[in-house]
Amino acid sequence: MGQLDGKIALITGAASGIGRATAALFAAEGAQVALGDWHEDQLEAITRQIRDRGGQVAARRTDVSKRADAQALVTAAIEAFGGLDVVVNNAGIGLYNTTLEQTAEDDWDRVMAVNLKGVYLVSQAAIPHIRARGGGSIINIASVHAMATQERIAAYAASKGGVLALTRAMAMDLATDAIRVNAVLPGAVDTPLFRSALAEEGKSAEELGFRFDPHAIGRVGQPEELARAILFLAGDASSFMTGSPMIVDGGLLARL
Ligand SMILES: NC(=O)c1ccc[n+]([C@@H]2O[C@H](COP(=O)([O-])OP(=O)(O)OC[C@H]3O[C@@H](n4cnc5c(N)ncnc54)[C@H](O)[C@@H]3O)[C@@H](O)[C@H]2O)c1
Repeated sequence: MGQLDGKIALITGAASGIGRATAALFAAEGAQVALGDWHEDQLEAITRQIRDRGGQVAARRTDVSKRADAQALVTAAIEAFGGLDVVVNNAGIGLYNTTLEQTAEDDWDRVMAVNLKGVYLVSQAAIPHIRARGGGSIINIASVHAMATQERIAAYAASKGGVLALTRAMAMDLATDAIRVNAVLPGAVDTPLFRSALAEEGKSAEELGFRFDPHAIGRVGQPEELARAILFLAGDASSFMTGSPMIVDGGLLARL
């Protein structure tokens, strides 16, 4: 018996990294999954993989920062599976090596549009359908940068701080509808996003030997380790949690 048997879940940014691992785990745990991502080829690849393993999956090319796309993704999920219980707002982009002064307005707008407005648009389209099922769970993927940060990451940190604040506000508005809303705050996780951040510093994950000293655990996380945390928030095991930041960071924020 799967932990998500009978559940219908929508996952954004599902073509890569944490979203991809979450899509595979949710399907393996019995969920019907509706996947959205901007990257069409990779989206097709994960869709095929899930289908080949006997999972039930629908997919749609989506830019979460566009209202029509967000709405169309939710509609595709409803048409494919007849409802919606879980939404994972995971799509995100980075912007590194840039102080506030150096941040171009277009870059600021794009980071906010994907990382923060995308959560608003997809959730707004999805909530009536979750409510119609008598409740469910929304999981927003923020970052440790919502709570503590470093130099030259101003726009990204601001967007993720916004995601955490929005998570709390959504949790308040939706509690009486039995819709729980929580955030996951990953530390460094070995995904293309993390690798591009390293590359901008002239480093690679292999060169570091996957060591990562800021984490007390001493290594970067794997996407599957985040997927398991997201699974916990999606299912009934977390039934008394809402408005919470779940920190999954190898001990990064615990460190003085
Ligand atoms: N990897 C890390 O170290 C790390 C740390 C903290 C938070 N996060 C967050 O986790 C989430 C997933 O990141 P990841 O590391 O798996 O990155 P990733 O780059 O591997 O995957 C992100 C996915 O989002 C998709 N995407 C980007 N813009 C989109 C858009 N406008 N519409 C739809 N899809 C879009 C990309 O095509 C990609 O498939 C992001 O929100 C990221 O900010 C990652």
